[in-house]
Amino acid sequence: MKREIHLRVNQRDVSLVADDADTLLEVLRDQLKLWSVRESCGVGACGTCTVLLDGKPVSSCLLLAARVSGQTLTTLEGISDGETLHPIQQAFVEERALQCAYCTPGFVLTVKSLLEENPAPSDDDIREYLAGNLCRCAGYGEILRAVHLAQEKLRG
Ligand code: FES
Ligand code: FES
Repeated sequence: MKREIHLRVNQRDVSLVADDADTLLEVLRDQLKLWSVRESCGVGACGTCTVLLDGKPVSSCLLLAARVSGQTLTTLEGISDGETLHPIQQAFVEERALQCAYCTPGFVLTVKSLLEENPAPSDDDIREYLAGNLCRCAGYGEILRAVHLAQEKLRG
């Protein structure tokens, strides 16, 4: 069955019609053309499709769009300031914490949530928080360093 759903996405109110079976991932990509939201495993095991739902990371491949109607979402497109990268994105670039970058939007959004919860996480805190995000080609050491650099940048 199709129904109208209402979302606040990247500080913008949107209304759209989705099938009850449509995942949030499908709606964000196919209808809203938010290409940073990417599918990999499709079963909630890799974190590639992560978006922020009311500020917390969720796997958009697992959520039905109709279930989150009325809620607030953030994708990678919503955190940069035009051409200016968000400090977390900048830290990933400076620490070379990406290669193909397919996983990077999910990592950056998860790190954003982590640093809002805990502005000075230890290495173990970071590893635990990022445990659901998998990267198949960049090194986790570089990602760890990028999180620490992002901390410094956000502290100013
Ligand atoms: S594609 Fe959603 S968790 Fe892997
Ligand atoms: S940079 Fe390629 S999968 Fe992470």
